Amino acid sequence: MPTAPPAYKIVNSRLVLTAGFGGLLLLMAFAGFDGIQALQQIQTANDSIREEFLLRTRVLERIRADVYVSGTYVRDYLLERESGKAQGHQYSLRETRSDMDAALQQYRALLNAEESRPFQVLTQELGAYWGVLEPALRWTAAQRQRDGYTFLRDEVFPRRTSMLGIADQIGAINESQLKAGRLKVEETFRQSRRRLTITIGLTIALGLLLAAFSTRHILRLENETAERYREISGARAELKLLSARLVAAQENERRSISRELHDEVGQALTGVLVEMANLSTLIREKDTDRVAAKADEIKKLVENSISVVRNMALLLRPSMLDDLGLVPALQWQAREVSKRSGIWVKVSAEQVSEELPEEHKTCIYRIVQEALHNIVQHAAARHVSVTVRQEPGRLLLAIQDDGKGFQPQQERGMGLVGIEERVSYLGGKFEVDSAPGRGATLNVMLPLAEAA
Ligand SMILES: Nc1ncnc2c1ncn2[C@@H]1O[C@H](COP(=O)(O)OP(=O)(O)O)[C@@H](O)[C@H]1O
Ligand SMILES: [Mg+2]
Repeated sequence: MPTAPPAYKIVNSRLVLTAGFGGLLLLMAFAGFDGIQALQQIQTANDSIREEFLLRTRVLERIRADVYVSGTYVRDYLLERESGKAQGHQYSLRETRSDMDAALQQYRALLNAEESRPFQVLTQELGAYWGVLEPALRWTAAQRQRDGYTFLRDEVFPRRTSMLGIADQIGAINESQLKAGRLKVEETFRQSRRRLTITIGLTIALGLLLAAFSTRHILRLENETAERYREISGARAELKLLSARLVAAQENERRSISRELHDEVGQALTGVLVEMANLSTLIREKDTDRVAAKADEIKKLVENSISVVRNMALLLRPSMLDDLGLVPALQWQAREVSKRSGIWVKVSAEQVSEELPEEHKTCIYRIVQEALHNIVQHAAARHVSVTVRQEPGRLLLAIQDDGKGFQPQQERGMGLVGIEERVSYLGGKFEVDSAPGRGATLNVMLPLAEAA
């Protein structure tokens, strides 16, 4: 029997597929979003590190240039004999100083922890440098000519060299800062790469799992469909066969009725006709004694015909079923079979209501008819018991014989198939319990609506 898959299974597969594909999409979206964000983060970090480095380098370069140039201006100023030109150098020197102060101010804002020490040293050195220079700026031309060179050699140049050294130190720190920043960015990059690898791995695993599940599911559905198709084709073929057999059975029945009409009724009526001819001869001869005997004979013949016709009528459609009810009709049938075959048939009924549905009564009657027919034909039995029992919600029928038995799985003809069909039409159950040498029992259960 084809059965639909249980509802919980359908719901389960749907749930698994929805959750699986939803999860997969979410994972993919997450991986994409996370990847883009990480890239953006890395790019921003890279940009800011580079920009900061460039800015510091620029400002530091300015400070270095100012230190260097200031030395040159000091030299020019000290070695200049013309006071007008010396004034110009002095002015340039002051300009350089204010520019340097501005640059220092700017660098202080960019300062990081490692640079603060050397920067402090640089500022102090610069302060000392300007402090040393200040009195020299007020020197007369003669003083400058006398002490200028020594001052330059002993004070200005060594200080300048040391300050340039400090600036170089700061530059080196700045560069190492750049390197550290790059390392940090690389670490961020590594981290997001790890995260992305995990997410993509998960996505692929889930995808594979889903693919396996879906493939299995689809294959199972395909198999089930093929199975259903086979079942339906089988059922259709069986139906066709059954219809053909039904038509054949109908034809056989008609043939047997026709034969019976011809053989039994036809012959009896022919007999009546012959005897009537004899009777009219007797009447003409006025042989009153034999007329009476002949009339009796004819009466018997007609009675016989009537009984044959009635039996045939009952066989075709048991009006008894309508007139007397199920149990008396079964009893009549049992009597008829006993009379014809000499088999002892007993009918017992327990609490069988006469309010049974028409269909159920006909079904029971026909089954008993076919079963008794089989017993007469095949069983070589001596005793048969037919039992009908009504229980709440169902009607039970059993026909048991003590004949030679048979193999119900292998021997199956129109009779048993017909019984099966009738029973399944009413939603009941039919089974044959028999084996060679053990007699046979047919069990039938028909469901009844509770109200009946
Ligand atoms: N009560 C029985 N005792 C022994 N054999 C039986 C009995 N009923 C049926 N059979 C066997 O089962 C076969 C199938 O029966 P059935 O379906 O009525 O077809 P049919 O009567 O046309 O052969 C019979 O041919 C017979 O061999
Ligand atoms: Mg039969």
